[in-house]
Amino acid sequence: MNNSFGHSFVITTFGESHGVGLGVVVDGCPAGLELCEADIQRELDRRKPGQSRITTSRKEEDRVQVLSGIYQGRTLGTPIGMVIYNGDAKSDHYDDLKDLYRPGHADFTYDARFGFRDHRGGGRASNREAVGRVAGGAVAKALLETLLGTACLSWVEQVHQTKILVDPQTVTLEAIEANEVRCPDPKAASLMIEAILAAKAKGNSLGGKIGFVVKGLPAGLGAPVFDKLTADLAKALMSIPATRSVSFGLGEEATLLTGLEHNDLFVSKGNRIGTVTNRAGGVLGGMSNGEPLWGHVTFKPTATLLVDQDSVNRSGEALTFKAKGRHDPCVLPRAVPNVDAMVNLVLADHLLRFVSADLSRLKKALS
Ligand SMILES: Cc1cc2nc3c(=O)[nH]c(=O)nc-3n(C[C@H](O)[C@H](O)[C@H](O)COP(=O)(O)O)c2cc1C
Repeated sequence: MNNSFGHSFVITTFGESHGVGLGVVVDGCPAGLELCEADIQRELDRRKPGQSRITTSRKEEDRVQVLSGIYQGRTLGTPIGMVIYNGDAKSDHYDDLKDLYRPGHADFTYDARFGFRDHRGGGRASNREAVGRVAGGAVAKALLETLLGTACLSWVEQVHQTKILVDPQTVTLEAIEANEVRCPDPKAASLMIEAILAAKAKGNSLGGKIGFVVKGLPAGLGAPVFDKLTADLAKALMSIPATRSVSFGLGEEATLLTGLEHNDLFVSKGNRIGTVTNRAGGVLGGMSNGEPLWGHVTFKPTATLLVDQDSVNRSGEALTFKAKGRHDPCVLPRAVPNVDAMVNLVLADHLLRFVSADLSRLKKALS
């Protein structure tokens, strides 16, 4: 089954939107990492529903319970088991939808694959599954911060027609968290919030784009050829529900430049080799080059709409329905912690693999 992710730092998530609970098992985290429940809870609090008028009104405390793998504030090197119980599932909202295929949702494809599904709140296709990723991502974040003093920072850069250019070099967590839409530009944030509220008032929804950056990575993270950093990041990020695309550096814009305009020229930067510009997004040949790793993830408009829509049921009968459940009119603000988590998980995995990729590093580790 396909509910695990990673090679050396592995997460397995479990749970459905309206089941008893959800969670994660993190395997491969080295022993001795300082970590407590509060570090994990902090990340879950950023993700939890019911935070503002532009997110779903489902109220979940999302209180994490650590079952194993952490003792006296440090990791044991054994599997870290974490569970988050569901508290505010209103499953009767979904009674009428049992046999219905909601447009833009995974109802039809889950039935096509499994023949049987938990229809309540989207089951496992729901973004509630992300509590496991975010809890696992918090462990990865602690590892990256301890070893490298860095972790992923992501923000909302576009909601529908409102777009800004954010400089990944200078963006800060304070600016991102200063408003409910998590856009570091306050003027653009107000326009985005207005647009989301206007769409919500009509029962409609909006999509957009998230930017991310990680500064301070060493050169050489990533495993050619199939597990390139870009390939693993793209897979990790595309596993977040509602994602449409992932790009690195200038992304598609690179197609409009000539090679002369696009190449980042190498220079000596004190004790390391770096590049003058960073159009590549900090990756060459699928490995980090020591410059900030940066890119974008795009998301579609939320599938749940509070207006009449035509569809069919399991038997192919045509019908019209209107959703009743609570939903995010725009998934972007709450997807920011998902992006952070998935990027941190990939980097933690590659950091552990990096250590064993070179004999001199291994000798040093064993000396
Ligand atoms: C943070 C976040 C919140 C989401 N909230 C909702 C929601 O409230 N309603 C909804 O229809 N979809 C929501 N989604 C998206 C659906 O889970 C997803 O679109 C659906 O399962 C179909 O999968 P796909 O879009 O990947 O094809 C959310 C996604 C994310 C990342």
